[in-house]
Amino acid sequence: MKTPQQLYEDWEHAHWAARDIDLSRDPEHWSSMDESERNLLYFVLSSLMVAEERISTQFCGLVLSQDDEEEGSFLSTQLVDENKHMQFYARFQNEVVADPAAIGAHVARAREVLGDPFRKVFDEALVEAHDRLRREPDNREAKVDFVTIYHMIIEGTLGITASHFLLDFLEERELLPGFADGYGRIAADEQRHIAYGTWFLREAVAEDPAMAELVRARLIDLLPAVAESVSPPSEGAWDVLGVEDGELGAYGLNALTRRLNLIGVSLG
Ligand SMILES: [Fe+2]
Ligand SMILES: [Fe+2]
Repeated sequence: MKTPQQLYEDWEHAHWAARDIDLSRDPEHWSSMDESERNLLYFVLSSLMVAEERISTQFCGLVLSQDDEEEGSFLSTQLVDENKHMQFYARFQNEVVADPAAIGAHVARAREVLGDPFRKVFDEALVEAHDRLRREPDNREAKVDFVTIYHMIIEGTLGITASHFLLDFLEERELLPGFADGYGRIAADEQRHIAYGTWFLREAVAEDPAMAELVRARLIDLLPAVAESVSPPSEGAWDVLGVEDGELGAYGLNALTRRLNLIGVSLG
């Protein structure tokens, strides 16, 4: 398992700029897509944007809670990454979709469709855990809880599921090459973030086995909302993705379980 210092060094080598992604071919793709493809992408992109806005603003508390310089170095890179991801989505909206009224309507609709499960994870659990960590950066339990929500649930289960299926879909249909390039780089950044979360929780549990129960309780609290978030927003909504209804949930849970084994937490 990589240490924060190694993950920081990986970041130096993997550096990319949102401004440099070539989006020139995407507007043509966007306007020639069929209705079902465009609706799916509107929904997924709106969800990503709503989530990333939360993700990039609810993070600095973790940077403050760093235990040493190496961890602080890595966490600073993650803070920059999350803002870069938001910048990339904003660029895609402005240069490819280029329809602020439609974007506004789709974002509002995504919020409504995602509804309570999304609010429970992002607006309640994440925001409350972040506020607590910001007030008490030395509180171990607060840090463990925050990393469980942010790195295990949001990045390690929801994010990884969205990127796996969406990147496959775009590649198979040869759609939106610029977006696929940027989103692929975002997914690679997320692998580093998740690796940090796994490292941190493993250390925390090894130091104090009682932390395992804290991780487990939070996961059990949020997993029903996670399962609902990846279920089709309406009957047959995932048909265009070409996946079975339970496939996304199963993929996410499998990814999460693999990490929990490394950390030493069992859900059963
Ligand atoms: Fe991100
Ligand atoms: Fe991330």
